[in-house]
Amino acid sequence: MDSIRIRGGKPLTGDIAIGGAKNAALPLMAASLLTPEPLTLTNMPELADISTMGNLLRQHGARIDQSALGAGECDDEAGATGRTTTLRSDKIASVTAPYDLVRRMRASVLVLGPLIARCGEAKVSLPGGCAIGTRPVDLHLKALEQLGTKIELKQGYVHATVPKRLKGTQIVFPKVTVGGTENILMAATLAEGETVIENAAREPEIANLADCLNAMGAKISGIGSGTLRVTGVERLHAAKVAVIPDRIETGTYAVAAAITRGRIELKGTRIELLESVFSAMKQAGVEITPTSSGIVVAAKNGLAGVDVMTEPYPGFPTDMQAQWMALMATASGASMITETIFENRFMHVPELTRFGADVNVHGASAIVRGRAQLSGAPVMATDLRASVSLVLAGLAASGETMVNRVYHLDRGYERLEQKLEACGAEIERLGGG
Ligand code: UD1
Repeated sequence: MDSIRIRGGKPLTGDIAIGGAKNAALPLMAASLLTPEPLTLTNMPELADISTMGNLLRQHGARIDQSALGAGECDDEAGATGRTTTLRSDKIASVTAPYDLVRRMRASVLVLGPLIARCGEAKVSLPGGCAIGTRPVDLHLKALEQLGTKIELKQGYVHATVPKRLKGTQIVFPKVTVGGTENILMAATLAEGETVIENAAREPEIANLADCLNAMGAKISGIGSGTLRVTGVERLHAAKVAVIPDRIETGTYAVAAAITRGRIELKGTRIELLESVFSAMKQAGVEITPTSSGIVVAAKNGLAGVDVMTEPYPGFPTDMQAQWMALMATASGASMITETIFENRFMHVPELTRFGADVNVHGASAIVRGRAQLSGAPVMATDLRASVSLVLAGLAASGETMVNRVYHLDRGYERLEQKLEACGAEIERLGGG
């Protein structure tokens, strides 16, 4: 198993290009199942989760063509440089999403809505637990039932059938769910009549999906708000859509600049995607400056502790909580970090304490008392964002850090070591066999 070795304690300076958002690309890829015509996605990131979704869609019958951009070429989005992927599902070969693929990535459940809407039938393995909590899909299933789907759970699979066509209705999510909103939004595009989704998630990735569906001929209004209105259409057609910049990658490298007291320009991304994090950073004393091509993040010693609480967008993202904790471990004074989205998302705490971080967890909150200097240590990665928080702590810590089990990182960070190395980090990947 690969490890990452870091010799930390150096301020990082330079530029980092931010890629397309994993969490936008995954539902956009699933949306291609809604039409027999091609869906072309630009600014696509190259990540393990994207390959997993590609494999899942292929076994549903999709053909996928990828083309990398040539040197110096630029995509539609300012500064975006990712791949272009065309997905075409003229025929659905199978309506089954097998256990082996779904267990690897929870977002596989996003094929459920499109398959039911297009084929009237889907058989999708239940995703099961994951490192950060139980993460059920009950809200997806309940909402699909409200649209007229018959749901049966058999042998670990969700069997979903609809006699004719889904029927639009009012759906009120009792809790904000990103994946649930995406599944229902996709299903409702081909339903009969109007669907109103109340308490919908407002993440920028949802707006990217809704804009894409509209470009495919759907009729969705209220984009960006907590109420989405969808007037069903008979069919969707071809479209070409750009994946938005990855706001979690943006925030992670912003923390890399701040935690090493360096200065990094994040290219091809926007402050508006991550206001909550940048506002907390400013309070902590980090300088944030928008530029024509992105954002400059710079910090000096003497950062202040700032309390944050994770919340659905536009609140502080749970996917930035671990990275924030690493930063706060180096601030002057205390900060309280409260996790309200997932019940088991402090697994990075025991690993961060190996760097000398002073963190105490009380229920859903962690108190972090900053230290002048962390010191490098061997640590173990547990999930995607926890892993990257250990890399960030290692960049700030004096001496050598070895992050073990780094395969999690490849699910969500493209060329992580190269991007950090280009800013002066001493970081290398070691193959473990
Ligand atoms: C998405 C993101 C993930 C992020 C999370 C919260 C993708 C591919 N993943 O995950 O990176 O951490 O949003 O911002 O976009 N819940 C239920 N029942 C359900 C669905 C959800 O109880 O049917 C609960 C979950 O357990 C969790 C909360 O609702 O506690 C939010 O989950 P949700 O927004 O659905 O997260 P994901 O879409 O899985």
